[in-house]
Amino acid sequence: MSGRPILFEPFKIKSVERMNFSTEAERKAWIQEAGYNVFSLKAAQVTIDLLTDSGTGAMSDAQWAEMIRADESYAGSRNYLELEETVQAMTGLPFVIPVHQGRAAEHLLFSELVAPGHIIPSNSHFDTTLANIEDRGGEGINLLTELGRDPFAEAPFKGNMDVDALKNLLEQRAKDVPFVMLTITNNSGGGQPVSLSNINAVANLCRQYKKLFVLDACRFAENAFFIKKREPGYENRTPKEIARECFDQCDIMTFSGKKDALANIGGLLCLRSESLVDNLKNRLIVTEGFPTYGGLAGYSLAAMNQGLKEVLDERYLEYRLRTAEWMVEKLANADIPVIRPAGGHALYIEASKFFPHIEQRHLPGITLAAELYVQGGIRACELGTVAFGKTLPDGSQSSPPLDLVRLALPRRTYTEAHMGFVVNCVIDIFKKRESLKGYTFEKEFPVMRHFRSTFRPLK
Ligand code: F0G
Repeated sequence: MSGRPILFEPFKIKSVERMNFSTEAERKAWIQEAGYNVFSLKAAQVTIDLLTDSGTGAMSDAQWAEMIRADESYAGSRNYLELEETVQAMTGLPFVIPVHQGRAAEHLLFSELVAPGHIIPSNSHFDTTLANIEDRGGEGINLLTELGRDPFAEAPFKGNMDVDALKNLLEQRAKDVPFVMLTITNNSGGGQPVSLSNINAVANLCRQYKKLFVLDACRFAENAFFIKKREPGYENRTPKEIARECFDQCDIMTFSGKKDALANIGGLLCLRSESLVDNLKNRLIVTEGFPTYGGLAGYSLAAMNQGLKEVLDERYLEYRLRTAEWMVEKLANADIPVIRPAGGHALYIEASKFFPHIEQRHLPGITLAAELYVQGGIRACELGTVAFGKTLPDGSQSSPPLDLVRLALPRRTYTEAHMGFVVNCVIDIFKKRESLKGYTFEKEFPVMRHFRSTFRPLK
């Protein structure tokens, strides 16, 4: 697969959506109006939207057909029963609770399991996961391996958890740890995969210390295909078999259907424990809805069910992972500081290395995101100093270890030509990088700064 010159989209296009085009002058005016924050742009002002891979994919003809046929009954909907059966067969987890999206599963689960003073280890928590832990008074900690923290080291499983660090933590603080989480693939760390041997090692420690093991399985199918491609012994196994082997290790799964269920909305909380499921369902009725719809329309349950049947297709997964890999190869060849190896669902560019002359307090990630928009109508997301840093009393910025800009790839939505255009645009900006000057905050919002803050370009 590696080095193949073209991507081969394993689908034909039956329905199309016109793209939004604009002139550079229009985009300059719109981004200024948006306070140089791409979150404040109207979607119609964007040509290629790489803000997220969540809920933005294209559904198949079979998914649309299932949606039309859906059963909208409040209780006992056929679509819930079909989804339950699919998920039970895929994961081996007997209890399947639908929710409206991934963070609702987190909120529901943590309401039962997290209390003030608790510590929840993970390879890396996604930001909503961390926010839901903190909301309950808990503390989330990330235990990535040293290799996983190096953005440019070539290694197959940079999403792996540092098992020794987990063992130390459990040795010292076992009573404060209600469960251990693992995010596959590791979104916050570049979409890097976790190996099955790492999943097994974490599961063994959990058994040894009698802790529940929770998989954040949003991108389980992409992770399974990475295992097939990269982990010795799995080359002849199907993604379905590999995914099942991953799920067999866990007690609980939180899941956003907006990723690897190929749906626009939906999520799941699945588990083995009958005692826990009763309390969760009681809470579900208060917050999301009756346990056979969980805040979703019957047609959304149908879309997830059909998406889960499609996502483990090898041709789809090969195309999917090759897309990011193909883009990373081209960017790396042009010396662009892109996280390597390619992750599953996105490219991550290290903006402080892209613009070494722009100090971090002048927000290199915002500079790159704004320029991608002005040059190409491309919308990407800053996940660096603005998203994860804060302004210190002396006016300087505390910055996270990496100043990243994420270009996330919606599923089955764009073609090779579109992605080639994105690559060329990044390369063009890199060539003229020294002419760009950076930004400062105009209005800074204290929490989750990247969503609503506004900026001003330096003159
Ligand atoms: N866990 C991971 C690893 C995620 O990437 C996300 C969402 C969630 C949980 C929450 O799921 O959005 O359905 O509530 N990630 C999206 C993103 C938003 O853009 O990366 P949700």
